[in-house]
Amino acid sequence: MMDVFDGIRTLLAVRRYLDRPVPEGIIRKIVEAGRLTGSAMNLQPWHFIVVQEAATLRRLGALARSGPYIAQAPLAIAVAVERTGYAVSDASRAIHSMLLVAWSEGIGSNWVGFGGLEKTNALLGKIGPFSKGIRPFAVTDDEKFLYASVDGLLGFEVAEVSRNPWGGKVVHRIEVRPPAERLAEIPEPPKAKPHSTWSHGINIRPDQKEVWMVDGVYGYVYAFDITGRTPKQIASVPLFADPKQRPHPGWITFGIDGRYVYPDGGVVIDTRTKQVVARIPTSEKLIEVDFERGKAVRVGHR
Ligand SMILES: Cc1cc2nc3c(=O)[nH]c(=O)nc-3n(C[C@H](O)[C@H](O)[C@H](O)COP(=O)(O)O)c2cc1C
Repeated sequence: MMDVFDGIRTLLAVRRYLDRPVPEGIIRKIVEAGRLTGSAMNLQPWHFIVVQEAATLRRLGALARSGPYIAQAPLAIAVAVERTGYAVSDASRAIHSMLLVAWSEGIGSNWVGFGGLEKTNALLGKIGPFSKGIRPFAVTDDEKFLYASVDGLLGFEVAEVSRNPWGGKVVHRIEVRPPAERLAEIPEPPKAKPHSTWSHGINIRPDQKEVWMVDGVYGYVYAFDITGRTPKQIASVPLFADPKQRPHPGWITFGIDGRYVYPDGGVVIDTRTKQVVARIPTSEKLIEVDFERGKAVRVGHR
């Protein structure tokens, strides 16, 4: 293993590359190094986009004036930052982690550009604008639609995604009205909302026919049929009987076969009958992992 000081001492800015792909395991390790880097207030205001397609690398090389050599590289990692106060420092630190780990794995690389690369947004894909900041979102398996929780909205927005050129725009805004009986029980929604918004969780049932979203204020999950052009609400499932027990649902996760859905809040819902079928302690973020004879054999991605 390379000593840290030796890594820093020997690290070179490399601008010519062999015509050889970087092994998948090493790419993952490099991105993991970026992801694990500490950030101010632990905000992690970064997104790492691994680009390996030769045509996209050529176009990136043409757009980044100070890095035409990207065109010849087998790989580039675009680092996008959110607009937080320390984002530039945070991302710089993550980039340095990635350069060093790549170097320790025998991969020479370099840093190209520093902001002012907005032209590359169209190339890497920019989907929006959404009406406000986006929260959790889910993309259909065919990558044609994106469903997003949005700040200040009890509902969600839908964007249509295009591949060529990469990007997409919002095509629907769905606002939900909680059931009348719950509105009567909670006439004054709290000012301080869980996750500071109405809805912070959305997901697509694995068969791609329904979208489910959480209502963190009134304690519901709502299901929508998405087989038609406009999402159609088909169920409102209360997570509790007594408004005092509000579980404030956040993220929502489907099991691998889509039979059950697990909104944050310790409730399991049968996705066919739309009924709560069990209450078990869960954490906000969960994922199904199936084991056979002590070995993990399947893992969910929703
Ligand atoms: C913030 C930052 C931006 C940089 N931008 C570029 C760039 O746009 N193009 C480029 O070829 N090198 C860029 N570099 C690489 C520097 O030129 C390189 O790290 C420096 O010259 C030292 O090179 P050496 O390690 O090979 O001695 C950048 C480095 C930093 C830290």
